[in-house]
Amino acid sequence: MNELNFNRGRRLRTTANLRSMVRETSLQKEDFIYPIFVVEGENVKTEISSMPGVFHFSLDRLGEELDEVVGLGIPSVILFGVPNEKDAVGTQAYHDHGITQEAIRFAKERHPDLIVIADTCLCQYTDHGHCGVIENGVILNDESLDLLARTAVSQAKAGADIIAPSNMMDGFVAAIRYGLDQAGFENTPIMSYGVKYASAYYGPFREAAHSTPQFGDRKTYQMDPANRLEALREATSDIEEGADFMIVKPALSYLDIIREVRDNFDIPIVAYNVSGEYAMVKAAALNGWVDEKKMVLETLLSMKRAGADIVMTYHAKDAARWLEEK
Ligand code: PBG
Ligand code: ZN
Repeated sequence: MNELNFNRGRRLRTTANLRSMVRETSLQKEDFIYPIFVVEGENVKTEISSMPGVFHFSLDRLGEELDEVVGLGIPSVILFGVPNEKDAVGTQAYHDHGITQEAIRFAKERHPDLIVIADTCLCQYTDHGHCGVIENGVILNDESLDLLARTAVSQAKAGADIIAPSNMMDGFVAAIRYGLDQAGFENTPIMSYGVKYASAYYGPFREAAHSTPQFGDRKTYQMDPANRLEALREATSDIEEGADFMIVKPALSYLDIIREVRDNFDIPIVAYNVSGEYAMVKAAALNGWVDEKKMVLETLLSMKRAGADIVMTYHAKDAARWLEEK
């Protein structure tokens, strides 16, 4: 054996302390953004069937959820408002007393230090379920930009700390940046969902947000899962237009894209561990097929290792608890 020359990688794995000393990536509760769904009505706390452990909250029940998140040391939430009224132009998206605006106001009043992020899109608010306005079955680009900018401004007025536009119209960052600046919100950052694929992994979210397109699909605006270079083009243009953070979405099937964006740009990167990724793990765990805690922590760590600085995840509350145990 003595004459064999090989690397003894096991030397650095012999004890927990040694493994910890050479660990390259870390995961902590400060990395997390927790998504919350807010609905109209009273005394609503209803579990979303395809997302066990995730609920719809009415405003009067939102406080308990926010208190829990803050108590766990999670620094940030992203709010998804689900309105009762929908129309062709998504009026509730930019109504100063829309469900999202009211939820933002409530959250900031209750927890002024909590970073409250607003998802800026039209699909939850339009009766056709698309992320822009429609004419003869076509999703119009430039006509949608004005409404998206109005939505962002009304969310900033309500107190949102960060605007996160998820609509994937061309020029959406430029239009929103301009709108925010004109309204005096030049210090409100934009967290762009600039690298967003047309994905089957959004299924449970669309059930939760009632945002399934009523005709067609989102392939004319969201990206083709086959494309990598296109992600770089999208990120380049968004950053030129003023994006302060870049979201890559989904995360798990797109870890290579997270790495690619990390290696090419120097702004903070957010991995969105989306609803379908959450549902897969939950389903397996509820069947007793996998160790949920270990699997979730490994999955979230992989997103950090791929190059994400921040992870948006429905597992955030559980993960924060589990990280505390260790
Ligand atoms: C809406 C939006 C979607 C998600 C976040 N914002 C769905 C979509 O584009 O259809 C997906 C989030 C998830 O699946 O967890 N534009
Ligand atoms: Zn949308």
